[in-house]
Amino acid sequence: MRVLGFESSCDETGVALVELPPAGQPGMPKLLAQALHSQIAMHQAYGGVVPELASRDHIRRVLPLSREVLAQAQLGLHDVDVIAYTEGPGLAGALLVGAGVAVSLAAALGKPAVGVHHLEGHLLSPFLSADPPEFPFVALLVSGGHTQLMRVDEVGQYEILGETIDDAAGEAFDKSAKLLGLPYPGGPHLSKLAEQGRADAFELPRPLLHSGKPDFSFAGLKTAVLTQVKKLGDAPSEQQRADLAASTQAAIVEVLVKKSLLALKSTGLKRLVVAGGVGANALLRAELNAACMKRGVRVHYPELSLCTDNGAMIAMAAAMRLQRGMARLREDGGFGVRPRWDLSAA
Ligand code: KG4
Ligand code: ZN
Repeated sequence: MRVLGFESSCDETGVALVELPPAGQPGMPKLLAQALHSQIAMHQAYGGVVPELASRDHIRRVLPLSREVLAQAQLGLHDVDVIAYTEGPGLAGALLVGAGVAVSLAAALGKPAVGVHHLEGHLLSPFLSADPPEFPFVALLVSGGHTQLMRVDEVGQYEILGETIDDAAGEAFDKSAKLLGLPYPGGPHLSKLAEQGRADAFELPRPLLHSGKPDFSFAGLKTAVLTQVKKLGDAPSEQQRADLAASTQAAIVEVLVKKSLLALKSTGLKRLVVAGGVGANALLRAELNAACMKRGVRVHYPELSLCTDNGAMIAMAAAMRLQRGMARLREDGGFGVRPRWDLSAA
């Protein structure tokens, strides 16, 4: 069975084709082909995602990308058995593009369409790596819009242990980067600038670090970065900017690592899965690896290219649900999107 998956929740159009092992046989679904178009360059001029432009660009890209995926796999539309799409959460107009195309295609082919939770896609993306995790595990989900620690016992069994009470980790990266005059999305740019800086140059807050719970708050950090940027005045030196970037990154990473360890300790689990765009951060990976090694905890990441949004994770999440007989099949030809949708309710 083959699943064609569409991702269009924000500023990346992703399409991918995944193949499941024959019915009744064990084994992981396999990625056959994928294609991605990032809208980052288009939104950069505005300093952030412009929803209307995002939707229009998804419309332009989705069919050419689909053709590219099928050509890569040397297959045709009739070789596809299920069409999956990101049902939410995300930008309503952007989600509607993927949902509309997926459901129409499914109706035309007489095949079922399946709605997928975007965060479940991120969460299960490490199963596409060469060294996939095993259930159960603690998941640190760190994206542009979400920061959550979860206990994951199986596909669909997600217990939220803690989450952010205000900004997400990716948002903290992006907003601080903007204050430093870096382009959107700021995370990778800030992390690059930080390579030249000293992490102890600025004293920045680590909100809720000692709360004793796996919860997060990053809004205060952004305010502290703003205060430092103002103090540096109109013409900060390259070194000062790099120092502030390094100090900001260190503050975010320290909180993420400490809270992950807390969640591992409270659940007694010895496996951590990191997913979402911020999971690409090199310092976060290095610090988590070191801390987990000391405690005999195995850490799993998606491949670097699958940390940020992509179609492969959507096709994979649908495939893993199909294997377990729990996919959200829509055979009625109708479709809806859920711009706001809790993963624990998925
Ligand atoms: O998962 P994702 O692609 O989109 C959402 O579902 O939100 O995550 C995007 C976020 C952005 O905030 C981006 O700045 C951040 O991931 N990000 C990074 C890095 N690469 C992406 N943050 C820090 N370091 C990175 N290397
Ligand atoms: Zn995402």
